Amino acid sequence: MTIAPRPRDPAALRQRVLAFQDRFGLRLPLWMAPMAGVTGPALPQAVARAGAMPALGALMLEPAQIDAWVRDFRAAVDAPLHLNLWMPDPPPRRDAALEARWRDWLAAHGPAVPAQAADARPVDVDAQCAAVLAARPAVASTIMGLLPSPWRARWQAAGIAWFATVTTVAEARAAQAAGADGLIVQGAEAGGHRGRFSAADARDDAVGLFALLPQVADAVDLPLVATGGIADARGVAAALLLGADAAQIGTGLLRCEEAGIPPAWSRALAGAAPEDTVLTRAFSGRWGRSLRTAYVEATRAPGAPEPADYPVQRGLTGPMRAAAQAEGRLDGLQAWAGQAGALADGGPAGPWLARLAADAGGLLGLSDGLARRG
Ligand SMILES: Cc1cc2nc3c(=O)[nH]c(=O)nc-3n(C[C@H](O)[C@H](O)[C@H](O)COP(=O)(O)O)c2cc1C
Repeated sequence: MTIAPRPRDPAALRQRVLAFQDRFGLRLPLWMAPMAGVTGPALPQAVARAGAMPALGALMLEPAQIDAWVRDFRAAVDAPLHLNLWMPDPPPRRDAALEARWRDWLAAHGPAVPAQAADARPVDVDAQCAAVLAARPAVASTIMGLLPSPWRARWQAAGIAWFATVTTVAEARAAQAAGADGLIVQGAEAGGHRGRFSAADARDDAVGLFALLPQVADAVDLPLVATGGIADARGVAAALLLGADAAQIGTGLLRCEEAGIPPAWSRALAGAAPEDTVLTRAFSGRWGRSLRTAYVEATRAPGAPEPADYPVQRGLTGPMRAAAQAEGRLDGLQAWAGQAGALADGGPAGPWLARLAADAGGLLGLSDGLARRG
């Protein structure tokens, strides 16, 4: 798809944004961020009913689970859908001494960790790609790397638009060269894992969305969905002005009542300043942005072991995370958080999303707004 050069005047901006909504049958210029393993079906369903793009982060789901989830979703709501998969890193380095140190260290902070916890394996990504193909969502996105070209060809032949998550200008160019239909441009403000293709560079290359988005818009000729630190109408308006065709929200939506996350996490998000979040490898081995909980701070203190590679670290921290979840404790929970979650209002998702779009339209001086009537 070829798109017009990024317009500088508000009326042309509105046309561009509405054309992108129409392409997927949306009524709002807003996407829910894929967030693996966090929310139940209520949040994506509420997002879909509001006319925004719902998402499923399918990282941890077996093909049959993806199939069942999509079937349940479609039985509940007739709407477009965005499925998301992780592209695998090279196999992790294994270091028996480091893993033993982590088991001791974690046992001193929580439940005992069985030796086999470190053997955690991701779900087979080819089988997941096949499940996505069978589900035929409107959009399927990847993070952590590019989709292998045979899958790109199959998805696109089935009418699935492939969006690549990018965190640098070079990644954006590479995704365009690999045939992506669009990009999810993830700024370093984002909660959860950073999508940097090269795991080792994910912290040092932490580019903020204000710098990244306009330079990606200048570098490629693809639709852009901006994400990272967007949680109020000012952020949505700024993202559209900087070149995005839609804004994607993660942490802000976690605060909505339909998200159903543990109350301790939700309360902490409401009170978190940007500097109360930090990039850490201590949960999974991949850099991600989390609340500064006592566990995260302890892993940053002198003498703490260096985290193991993904997904070894993820396996090792499994018992701690499960115990924290069961006990409703913030500490020990993988409490991902973007830098702007406190800006969200914490009410029901549908009215909040409608208000965000209306207020962003107002800030951009668009008397006709940014929403298509439903
Ligand atoms: C709890 C949580 C889980 C996430 N899981 C995924 C995931 O599975 N796949 C993915 O592409 N991004 C994932 N992300 C990143 C989001 O898709 C998105 O980039 C991020 O939430 C945007 O920043 P924000 O949280 O400031 O809105 C996750 C983010 C959070 C907060």
